[in-house]
Amino acid sequence: TVLILDFGSQYSHSIARRLRECQVHSTVLPFDRPLEQIKSIQPKGIILSGGPGSVYENDAPHTCKEIFQLGIPVLGICYGLQEIAYQLGGQVARGTKWEYGHATCKIVEQSDLFRDVPETFSVWMSHGDLVTQLPPLFIPIAETDNCSFAAIYAKPHIYGLQFHPEVTHTEYGLQILKNFVVHICHCRCDWTMEDFIQQCIASIRQQVGSAKVIGAVSGGVDSTVAAVLTSRAIGTQFEALLVDNGLLRRDEANQVVHRLRDTCGVQLRYVDASSLFLQLLQGVVDPEEKRKIIGNTFIKVFEKEASASGASFLLQGTLYPDVIESSSHGGPSVTIKTHHNVGGLPDKMNLKLLEPLRELFKDEVRAVGKLLGIPEDSIYRHPFPGPGLAIRILGQVDQHRLEILRHADSIYIEELKSANLYRCISQAFAVLLPVKAVGVMGDTRSYEDVVALRAVETVDYMTAKWYPIPATVLEKISSRIVNEVKGVNRVVYDITSKPPATIEWE
Ligand code: XMP
Repeated sequence: TVLILDFGSQYSHSIARRLRECQVHSTVLPFDRPLEQIKSIQPKGIILSGGPGSVYENDAPHTCKEIFQLGIPVLGICYGLQEIAYQLGGQVARGTKWEYGHATCKIVEQSDLFRDVPETFSVWMSHGDLVTQLPPLFIPIAETDNCSFAAIYAKPHIYGLQFHPEVTHTEYGLQILKNFVVHICHCRCDWTMEDFIQQCIASIRQQVGSAKVIGAVSGGVDSTVAAVLTSRAIGTQFEALLVDNGLLRRDEANQVVHRLRDTCGVQLRYVDASSLFLQLLQGVVDPEEKRKIIGNTFIKVFEKEASASGASFLLQGTLYPDVIESSSHGGPSVTIKTHHNVGGLPDKMNLKLLEPLRELFKDEVRAVGKLLGIPEDSIYRHPFPGPGLAIRILGQVDQHRLEILRHADSIYIEELKSANLYRCISQAFAVLLPVKAVGVMGDTRSYEDVVALRAVETVDYMTAKWYPIPATVLEKISSRIVNEVKGVNRVVYDITSKPPATIEWE
């Protein structure tokens, strides 16, 4: 394994993720682990991550100096480089300005770290401090206009980088990390996602013992992968719960039950709470009010089922991007807040959290899902909001309007799949508007509902671009919806990006 000492950077787990891409296993530990623990895991290399602190401040995070005498290769990244300079007798100071963004890096001395990397390449910088004087025996091996020590080296194998090789904006970043683990640490690149699954199963067994685990599933990739992994680990000690709030898409509840129970062998309880949800939503038009009612009702239903099950663990499909690090600048105490992506289940439930996917990124979860034999339909399903169709029916939600939207949405998605567009789009759905429009059908005037189609492309769902579906496909979708969905006589296409719009209409 390669040890990553985490100094609180938002990119620390991206380093781990890049090493997984190199098929190398890594272990992320907080920076202040004692030497004995570091030695006991016998790392083949140590990477010091970036971090928000300043090495020269009183309460700055520091590792023990002895790690440099273990004969193990060390790579410091950003704060990590400054930590090397600080610990080994160099100088670090505040730069004249904060350097953030692209810079051109020029290699000034060849080394194993820069094998197969061209002499100049573009790197991503994000730092306010700078090394102003190298420690004894160190030499610069790369520079940028703003920074004479963009990369440094001391024999036999201590390296530092001021830029971030782990972010995709750095050209050859992956190559540099690979050079470190392969040519400097001599790791064998034979660690696979299959190994991840085996380790994960073993760790779930160890964590849970003979206790029971409960977890809500939605049919999306995260909750499905978490459920299948847990079920592989502890069988019927785990029970998955599908709460049907009556706001799911056409046939979705059925498909999720069938997929999890029959295809994946997960013990699943189906709880039909749809009439309760619909009753509470009667007459409600305000989006935030809808969200509140749906969220609270979900918690109530789930709590009741969970306490009846006798479970002491709650499974959640939290991924790394859901884990928000809120670190106070310079402070060594990095608090990690967990974003509960299943309806915000309250702490008073007194259940311990089981989060087997919390180190992974979405595409890695998909890879794990494929290896577990989960059908692609669920692996590539577009995200679906907790409040479901209630926030896609503008205005009042009732059974009749739900049926209209379900039908229109199913035609839309079916046509996107048959045009091979579904996977190019990050999220697509139909929206039922609270207005009626005039039309002419046959020889008679109609006065009916309007459906809007939404499709966006995004990486993080914080910003999104509207997706240009070809006109011929739109034409087919529109004509099918108007012809097949009773009560709809007009289809419009949403061409707004986020910002200024949001992805959902409510
Ligand atoms: P917006 O509409 O905020 O959506 O641009 C961004 C992403 O979040 C989803 N979304 C929600 N998910 N509960 C959820 O679980 C919600 O209340 C909610 N509102 C929006 C939305 O589908 C998109 O993927």
